[in-house]
Amino acid sequence: MAPKERNIAMMGYRSVGKSSLSIQFVEGQFVDSYDPTIENTFTKATRVNSQDYVVKLVDTAGQDEYSIFPVQYSMDFHGYVLVYSITSQKSFEVIKIIYEKLLDVMGKKYVPVVLVGNKTDLHQERTVSHEEGKKLAESWRAAFLETSAKQNESVGDVFQQLLMLIENENGNPQEKSSCIIS
Ligand code: GTP
Ligand code: MG
Repeated sequence: MAPKERNIAMMGYRSVGKSSLSIQFVEGQFVDSYDPTIENTFTKATRVNSQDYVVKLVDTAGQDEYSIFPVQYSMDFHGYVLVYSITSQKSFEVIKIIYEKLLDVMGKKYVPVVLVGNKTDLHQERTVSHEEGKKLAESWRAAFLETSAKQNESVGDVFQQLLMLIENENGNPQEKSSCIIS
């Protein structure tokens, strides 16, 4: 079977680890220094359930509660990784706002999303509980994972689960509210 191309965007508040998760997934490394992103695109071949994929990963600039949703990220994407940091209640509040804006701009009730609580290695600084993250993801019918980009914990699972959600969505067109992406 030919590989399927999947466009995925990483979104979330500043400094939550969007770039670190992307680089860990694509290159298998972690960088401690912080270099704010404007925009980066990565390409990665991967395989899930005997299906080959070519993932085009767009790592976006951090957003805050006042940012206008960048309309280019609402088009031509199959799914989204929405990231907060378990050490930042602010980033958890901002991810809710980003999600609302995303659905609003897309004019949809559902979009394939994996909600990610990153930086689990900083457990002493945790301010967002596992339970809070899980509940939010359930309310979105999204998958939920806590990760550490630093320790490469559950990073691959994020993309695997998102590819599975995208697959399910395409296989169940009745779940969709508007156009079909293939
Ligand atoms: P913007 O591009 O500005 O939106 O930030 P970002 O979300 O891409 O965050 P980035 O990946 O640049 O990480 C920000 C800082 O957090 C860097 O210093 C990273 O090294 C650190 N960081 C990222 N992920 C983790 C993690 O899982 N654990 C720890 N301890 N630090 C992390
Ligand atoms: Mg970044």
